[in-house]
Amino acid sequence: MSPMSAMSPLSAMSPLSSSFGRVLVIGGGAMATGIAARLAAADIETVVLVRRREAVAPTRDEIGRRVGQLGGSVRPVTVLVGDAPGPFALAVESVAEDLVAKRAVLARAEALVADDGIVATNTSSLRLADLAEGLKRPELFASWHWFNPAELVPLVEVTGGPLTAPDTLARLASLSRAIGKEPITLRRDHPGFVANRLQYALLREAYALVEEGVCEAEDVDRAVVAGLGARWAAIGPFASMDAAGLDVHEAVAEQLFPQLSRVTEVPALLREARRAGATGMKGGRGLLGDYPADAVRQIAARRDAMLALLAEARA
Ligand SMILES: NC(=O)c1ccc[n+]([C@@H]2O[C@H](COP(=O)([O-])OP(=O)(O)OC[C@H]3O[C@@H](n4cnc5c(N)ncnc54)[C@H](O)[C@@H]3O)[C@@H](O)[C@H]2O)c1
Repeated sequence: MSPMSAMSPLSAMSPLSSSFGRVLVIGGGAMATGIAARLAAADIETVVLVRRREAVAPTRDEIGRRVGQLGGSVRPVTVLVGDAPGPFALAVESVAEDLVAKRAVLARAEALVADDGIVATNTSSLRLADLAEGLKRPELFASWHWFNPAELVPLVEVTGGPLTAPDTLARLASLSRAIGKEPITLRRDHPGFVANRLQYALLREAYALVEEGVCEAEDVDRAVVAGLGARWAAIGPFASMDAAGLDVHEAVAEQLFPQLSRVTEVPALLREARRAGATGMKGGRGLLGDYPADAVRQIAARRDAMLALLAEARA
C-alpha cells in the first residue's frame, strides 16, 4: 500500500484544527517542510518563511511532496522570502541549530505573532532559558519538538522554559492533537527532552555491542526493527515490562543493569566513520557502508510507507 493511500489527512485530525489561526513556519529545511506539510494537511492556514529567493521554489516543491504523502492538502502553503505579514496565532522556528541564529529568528517571530500568539522552537539541544533571553513575552514561548519525517512521526514533545505559562503548553498540546499528533508535555526543560535521551541510551549500548564484537551493526538494526521496535510501536517499554511480569523484569534488571555500557565518550566507531569523511545517507556513506542514491530513496520510501501504515493503525 502506498503511503498516500494508507493515510488520509483527515484520519487522525480533529475539526478543531481549522479554527486555529494562521501559523508561520520559519525555515526551509527538512523539518520545517515536514511541519508545514502536516499543518497544511490539517487545514491550518500555513505560511513558510525562508531566507533566500532561490529557496522558495524547492521549499514549495518539498512541502508539496510531503503533503502528497498525507493524501493531499486542504489548503496551499504560501512560501515567502524575507518577510511575512502578521499577525499569526503561532510562529514556529525550525532553522539551523545555532543559538545566535535562533535568537534572532525568535525575536522576529515575536514581532509577527498576535499579542497572545505563541512563539515556538523546534530545537533539539539548545536550552530554552537561553533561547528565551531577549523575548518580550517569554510566557508565550515554548519548545515544540518534532521528529523526522515530521509530517509522519506522531510524537511531538512540548516543553516550557522557566517563564512559560502553563496555558501556552496546553494550547500547543491541544493544537498537536488537533493536527493528528501525539504530544507529551514535559514538566521541565531537560537536555534531549525524552525521546532523544531514550534513543541515545539505546545507541550507546548498540555501539558497545558492535565495538565489543558481540554482533554486527546490521544485527543491531535487525534486533530493533524486528524485535524492540515492532513491539514498541504497539506498547511502550514500561507497558512491555508490566506485560512481561515485574518479578521477571526485576531479576533480569539485577543481572543486566551492572553490565550495560556506561561510557561517556563519543563511540570510536562513530569517530572513525567521521574521520573517514562519512556523513550518512546524505553523503552516500554511513555506519552501515555505502548508499547509492537509489538505495537511499528506497530506504526512505520503505520507512515512510511503514510510518503511514502505523498512523492508519493508530487512527
Ligand atoms: N533533522 C532532525 O531529525 C531534527 C529533529 C528534530 C528537531 N530538529 C531541529 O530542527 C531544526 C532544523 O533542522 P533541519 O534538520 O530541518 O535542518 P536543515 O539543515 O534541513 O534546515 C535548516 C534550515 O534553516 C535555514 N536557516 C539557517 N539559518 C537560518 C537563519 N538564520 N534564518 C533563517 N533560516 C535559516 C536553512 O536555510 C535551512 O533551510 C534544528 O534546530 C534541529 O535541531 C531536527
